[in-house]
Amino acid sequence: MQILEPLNIARWQGPFSPEIVANAADALETGKLLYAPQLPFELSESERRFLSPDCLDGKSKNISFRPGSRALKGTHYQGSERNELLGMLQRYYNHSFDLLKALCPAYSQDLTPGFTSFRPAEIAGRTTSWRHDDTRLHVDAFPSRPMQGLRILRVFTNVNPVAPRVWRVGEKFDDAAARLLPGIKPPVPGAASLLHWLRIVKGRRTEYDHFMLGIHDRMKADETYQSQVPQTKLEIAPGTTWACYTDSVSHAAMSGQFAFEQTFYLPVKAMKDPERSPLRVLERLVGRNLT
Ligand code: SIN
Ligand code: FE
Repeated sequence: MQILEPLNIARWQGPFSPEIVANAADALETGKLLYAPQLPFELSESERRFLSPDCLDGKSKNISFRPGSRALKGTHYQGSERNELLGMLQRYYNHSFDLLKALCPAYSQDLTPGFTSFRPAEIAGRTTSWRHDDTRLHVDAFPSRPMQGLRILRVFTNVNPVAPRVWRVGEKFDDAAARLLPGIKPPVPGAASLLHWLRIVKGRRTEYDHFMLGIHDRMKADETYQSQVPQTKLEIAPGTTWACYTDSVSHAAMSGQFAFEQTFYLPVKAMKDPERSPLRVLERLVGRNLT
């Protein structure tokens, strides 16, 4: 399968041609990356000084904010510099939201924004535990943030002036799930309520979340899987934008510095074909409802 679905657009705002709109949601839902080689995110002369890991607070690898709030995390900047950084992230959020609404009009009423992030640190050479190591193939699933079946749709832009962002993309979700699910034990009864009650987890960890975390962990932990699974290396050029469902596209970010990312959540029922969601794929495999 072709992993990149070319998106021939040169602006963030629609309207886009009927052919582009007819194809976008299908490409995303079938596990492709929508790739716009002529869609940069322009930084002002003044904003270009933020292309440095110096704007980080020393503990975080990203600078992030939740659209709608003015709380910026991950930077030590204060005052006017902080406001300028916030304005830059706010603009990325506006652009990526405009983009998805115009590409997938059927989603627009149901998209909920998650965090906006600016990633000024080099990926290669970081040291982390295997579980946090995003240079290993994984599908996105987060222990403290249950999705309860919601889809995770992300927009990325490489703003590095010269260097690519290098990703690996692995096998289709159906294949990964069929391979990895049999080794994952069902959740311990009562554990989800306890985690929620202790406020370790924001919201209830459903069986869906349990199995997604299991797939995330087993995929990352398995060195043989990482090296042997059919995979494609992508060198994503500077000044380009891409979008994909990162809860179903297995991905690994190998190297690169300076990118923006905007997360959106979408209910399964808002998909063009809900049967293609990881929730339905897992439910078919286990033979019961998982939320
Ligand atoms: C990830 O979602 O695993 C990281 C993607 C990136 O920063 O390129
Ligand atoms: Fe990821």
